[in-house]
Amino acid sequence: MARVILGVGAGIAAYKACELLRRLREAGHRVRVIPTPDALRFVGAPTWEALSGEPVATGVWTDVDEVPHVRLGQGADLIIVAPATADLLARAAAGMAPDLLTNTLLTARCPVVFAPAMHTEMWEHPATRANVETLRSRGVTVVDPAVGRLTGKDSGAGRLPEPATLYEIADQALSSGTDLRSSLASRRVLISAGGTREELDPVRFLGNWSTGRQGYAFARAAAARGAEVTLVAANVELPDPPGVKVVPVVSAREMHAAMLAEAVSADVIVMTAAVADYRPVTRSEEKIKKDAGPLDPIELTENPDILAGLSARRASDGPDGQVIVGFAAETDTDPGAAKAKLARKGCDFLVVNEVGNGLGFGAVDNEAVVLGSDGSRVPIPRGSKDELADAVLGLAAARIN
Ligand code: CTP
Repeated sequence: MARVILGVGAGIAAYKACELLRRLREAGHRVRVIPTPDALRFVGAPTWEALSGEPVATGVWTDVDEVPHVRLGQGADLIIVAPATADLLARAAAGMAPDLLTNTLLTARCPVVFAPAMHTEMWEHPATRANVETLRSRGVTVVDPAVGRLTGKDSGAGRLPEPATLYEIADQALSSGTDLRSSLASRRVLISAGGTREELDPVRFLGNWSTGRQGYAFARAAAARGAEVTLVAANVELPDPPGVKVVPVVSAREMHAAMLAEAVSADVIVMTAAVADYRPVTRSEEKIKKDAGPLDPIELTENPDILAGLSARRASDGPDGQVIVGFAAETDTDPGAAKAKLARKGCDFLVVNEVGNGLGFGAVDNEAVVLGSDGSRVPIPRGSKDELADAVLGLAAARIN
């Protein structure tokens, strides 16, 4: 059970926060709702009190003997503000504290998540952009709003993400803990995910079983730590993680180009993608027909090694302090082979995980050993892909910081 503060700003999307509150309570958390005074125009105090089972106050002059403006923030494990208006972001960025919620934000030492909702023009305004940048640079997570129908006839960026998504973000922020939360604040994290496809003809390809789940778990975990995340995704059928820039690719060569372009400004690079080592020398423009006679053997040529290429480029002209993480899926764990692969790839960490036996591709759980170029060896016990991702990012963050 965690102590969660649900801050509610004065936006029409406040009604969606009722569902988020219900989910947090069902997960066993104690939730104290702190609306801004104007937020009560949208959803009233009795609703919040009945759903949370806790009293609701908006100002600092209620229960003064308990010093709530200090105690609530100090005692919280997580603060999530949903919806956060442009005005509330501005106050938080400036450190202003006219009400109980903004006071609580100033006394909190726990992870803080803002889920903004507003009209597109307000979200794109330079003042709001600067406030979001300021908050992120302090380790606060500001979720990018969803795109879609807004209040009235407008549509665009500015919708509050759905309560299920917000719940997932809150859960992730809680499991990342306090001391590490800011470790990737304002850092750029570049992740590759999925499995590349090498086309033989318009309907066939050489591919692999990668689902992209491990890479998407990295993207969520990095975003929860406040990073600006880019995900180069090869053939993944998963929803885009909130607040993450997704660059879709198909083949190894497309992934290579996208990774090289994005790597220039990345602080951390994680190569989880299963890259095809070979591609057909030629791609037939027409579907290969079986009645066209016996099929010639398919001639293959080697694809670029993206991870080794990124490491080599960093050595010559890469940004200072960039941390590169590779993956090695092995069916038999031979420590000698894994160490040799780490040296060959030139990266800082190699996450060695065994595939098969219910682990790896398509599986829910993962288990790994992280080998470091400094000779370190950190075992990560069997757990979810989110847990594995967060543990590896902890090591990468410690290396940068
Ligand atoms: N990788 C890459 N480019 C390739 C192949 C692999 O960037 N052409 C990356 C993967 O994303 C992974 C790491 O290299 O992070 C190791 O992948 P793996 O397939 O285990 O390594 P290979 O070099 O292909 O070696 P093996 O002969 O064991 O397949």
